[in-house]
Amino acid sequence: MSLEIAPDADGRLVCPFDHHSPEYAQQNREMFKDLRDAGPVVWSEAYGGFWVATDYVHIREVLNDSETFTVETIDGAREGGTLLPAPRGAAFLKPDTTLFNFFDGERHDRVRAALNPHFSRRRVAQLAPLIEATVSRVLDRVVEQREFDIVYDLAAPITAGIVNEHMGFGLEDPAPFFRAVFSLKRAEEVADPASKDPVVTTYKEGWAYLGEVARARREEPRDDVISALVQADDGAFTDEDIQGMCMNVIFGAADTTAAFTAHSLTFLAERPDLQAELRADPKKIPAFIREGLRYFNVAMGVARTATRDVELGGMQIRRGDRVFALQPSGNLDPALYEEPEAFDMARPAQQHLGFGGGIHSCLGASLAQAIVAADIRGVLERVEAYSIDPGKLVRNSDLSFISLFEEAPMRVDVVADRQATVP
Ligand code: HEM
Repeated sequence: MSLEIAPDADGRLVCPFDHHSPEYAQQNREMFKDLRDAGPVVWSEAYGGFWVATDYVHIREVLNDSETFTVETIDGAREGGTLLPAPRGAAFLKPDTTLFNFFDGERHDRVRAALNPHFSRRRVAQLAPLIEATVSRVLDRVVEQREFDIVYDLAAPITAGIVNEHMGFGLEDPAPFFRAVFSLKRAEEVADPASKDPVVTTYKEGWAYLGEVARARREEPRDDVISALVQADDGAFTDEDIQGMCMNVIFGAADTTAAFTAHSLTFLAERPDLQAELRADPKKIPAFIREGLRYFNVAMGVARTATRDVELGGMQIRRGDRVFALQPSGNLDPALYEEPEAFDMARPAQQHLGFGGGIHSCLGASLAQAIVAADIRGVLERVEAYSIDPGKLVRNSDLSFISLFEEAPMRVDVVADRQATVP
């Protein structure tokens, strides 16, 4: 694979980069190398034109400077936000006004200040019993089934169950709602406001329901995050603010954590040596996860918009230009990681880009790691041997945003003794 990259009359390094293309889905790792070799910042003509930050240093520079590289839509432009191109159909989501990963500055700081303590490492450690119980409940079911889908039967219901309980959504079965949110994120064609599509209906009903929960918690607070949010900032958050925060948490959690679990279990199926190492010493699971966040690259990149003329990586960026931070390319940058294509759990701890960076870095980073660790530990404890047929794994065909599996069927070949002896 070799991308043809050449300077244009304005000195821009022009490359045929299209992160939505099937070629990219198949060969992105080779492309990252070509892109980084061409330069730290290159220009793609796709989608009206945008810059691509290709190496670790410049991706960080973009993510760390939210005053220069904003998630907001500026000058009334059609393009803005973190997806590129911006989804056209989902206007009813009102991302600019309700979802905090679409605004910066003081308003964003207030939201994060209210939410961060509930997702800190310390708080997540206190959630261990909830995490363990949820993982056990779902694992009991799927191990008995013997064949199940890692994303839809195992990991997504676990994440949805934990987030539901912690936030205090009070949904009897949160999985369908999370799945609707997750589908909206990916399939904008269903997101016509007048659509009777069940995904849109579920989403709208869910939004209204979250408003009811916020109002109920104002009346009668409980021990959950929504109750804390209604009281935070001297009660300044409106119901709509809280609905948006809840929805943003679901948007963040719904598919990413499940995708990461699927990457981890499929990778361990291919690497019996590593699987044996983790079985022998489960304390190594966090190191596996840290390296997995760098290596699997669930988060495939985020967009920003330049708020001023600025030089980046030797290129002249203009106000209003769109910039794509190609996180996975940064995570595989040899300038930072020795032998980046090798999976090495013993690699020195280094800040990866798997959870982004700067003010929008992932709210759920600690929670996600705790959940995936519990998923992996739970599977290895209960299942002595499992198999995944690579021919049946279906990856999603668009890797522009999240690297996910459409289908990830897993087969339990031998149930561990521990499980067999449970009455
Ligand atoms: C392995 C799993 C996960 C990965 C790889 C991941 C990745 C990311 C990344 C890369 C961003 C930055 C987006 C940007 O810069 O525009 C982000 C933001 C976010 N994530 Fe996660 N995430 C994961 C799990 C979770 C979970 C479990 C939650 C639930 C609390 C969550 C909630 C959020 C929220 C609310 C934001 C927006 C933060 C803001 O704009 O201030 N994520 N995530």
